Amino acid sequence: MNKYMDKLTKAEDTYTFDDFLIKPGLSCIEPNDVKLDTQVSTNYHLNTPVVSSAMDTVTEANMAISLARQGGLGVIHRNLTIEQEIKEIKKVKYANELTVKEVISISPDETVSEAQQIMDIEEISGLPVVNDDNIVVGIISRRDIKPLRGKYLNRKVSDAMTQEVVTISENTTTEEALDVAYENKVERLPVVSDVNELLGIVTMKDILERKKYPDAARDKNGRYLVAAACGPFDIERAMAIDDAGADIIAIDSAHGHKTDIFKSVNEMKKNVDADILLGNIATAKAAKDMLDATEIDGIKVGIGPGSICTTRIVAGVGVPQLSAVSSVADVAEDHGIPVIADGGLRYSGDIAKALAVGANAVMLGSLLAGTTESPGEMTIRNGRKYKQYRGMGSLGAMTGGVGAGKDRYFQGSSSNMNSSKLVPEGIEGVVPYKGEASQIVYQLMGGLKSSMGYVGAKSIKEMHEKAELVHITPNGMSESHPHDITITNESPNYHPRY
Ligand code: XMP
Repeated sequence: MNKYMDKLTKAEDTYTFDDFLIKPGLSCIEPNDVKLDTQVSTNYHLNTPVVSSAMDTVTEANMAISLARQGGLGVIHRNLTIEQEIKEIKKVKYANELTVKEVISISPDETVSEAQQIMDIEEISGLPVVNDDNIVVGIISRRDIKPLRGKYLNRKVSDAMTQEVVTISENTTTEEALDVAYENKVERLPVVSDVNELLGIVTMKDILERKKYPDAARDKNGRYLVAAACGPFDIERAMAIDDAGADIIAIDSAHGHKTDIFKSVNEMKKNVDADILLGNIATAKAAKDMLDATEIDGIKVGIGPGSICTTRIVAGVGVPQLSAVSSVADVAEDHGIPVIADGGLRYSGDIAKALAVGANAVMLGSLLAGTTESPGEMTIRNGRKYKQYRGMGSLGAMTGGVGAGKDRYFQGSSSNMNSSKLVPEGIEGVVPYKGEASQIVYQLMGGLKSSMGYVGAKSIKEMHEKAELVHITPNGMSESHPHDITITNESPNYHPRY
């Protein structure tokens, strides 16, 4: 009888970040005692609960490398050809591979000047010397060549090389390799088999980089973790990026609660080794249907909370983000599936609130846009530096690159589609240049640790269990921001809204 009235009177109340604060609790936890490690998907664990958005102004290899070093995860965007996406994935995977397998070597019968030329061209400081059977017989470095002049440069490599080569085996650990390199004062360690066959090379630079980032997110071979985005129906891309080494495939759709997507993702799952994150959704029903119908490894939550999103305005659809995250997390936690809160996070306090209501990690777009590592040109406006940031459903993203935004928003995939026929669900703009992503993540994680100290939670699991929220009024929120002052010095972790 009250069919339509009931839609209004029985509508759920829903909430987002500014509607709540976290209640301080009894604590003996200092921020420095807090551990931020978390499960991001069935098989992958992060030391920092931060994932970067799969957006063409946020994540390519540079951002993914920076996040992996800090223990987080970058999701390479898909507004690229398959080949370009593969290239970005490989850049991350090879960025700190301890053993470089494609070694440049030289034969003992070549000349010293040839060796020098190779080192100059390849910008390396030494070459393993191998015979025709790829057996290591020496090593030649700039140090060996430096004292030689004139006609001596035409000597054979075998005359100038160091014959006693310090090598390591494939099973040598980073610590052992470092000890060997220090003890023998060498910068390059050829990796050899039982019969001295050259398998790869480890350089001091790689060892030190590994030690510099002890919390880095790594795969089982010690390479940086990387995720890559894929359209829900693009099995060819999924298989190609899986082959290229993506550890996690993030299926990227504006509306993941769709039966045809469930079907396609099940097909994908059979054909790839990578874990699969599926999204985006915003209701408990969607989570339940998704988990009943698929074997996915993680869920991305967020319809319309993003800083560049217009879905809620253009389509009138969405769920405020704290309600969306908590309702999905209630279902996902029972299935042991991690939840990533995607979009709408503006401050470290928002990250704490997302984790308090069950998220295992957060996905950041605008907070990481405008950093040195985000793709895109810097522009100057009124003497201040800015970088571009745009929604993947903006006109620019749907008509630029390979137009990946189009199928994210179910607008076909034809590249020659007339742009006047597109209905954008995102906007294009700029954000202030913010410097290195690592500094941003440092501040965000500092704020999160502080929050967990107030709660008395020493892990994200404890944050899920212990954090209580208080519901606040708009007055409560306006009291929360700085007030009655003109800010004169910029703070690294608080920006008045631009
Ligand atoms: P933030 O708030 O971190 O949000 O900038 C980033 C997230 O927003 C989503 N996204 C979009 N949503 N229209 C939308 O409705 C768009 O054009 C768009 N582009 C990105 C995405 O989930 C991202 O991680």
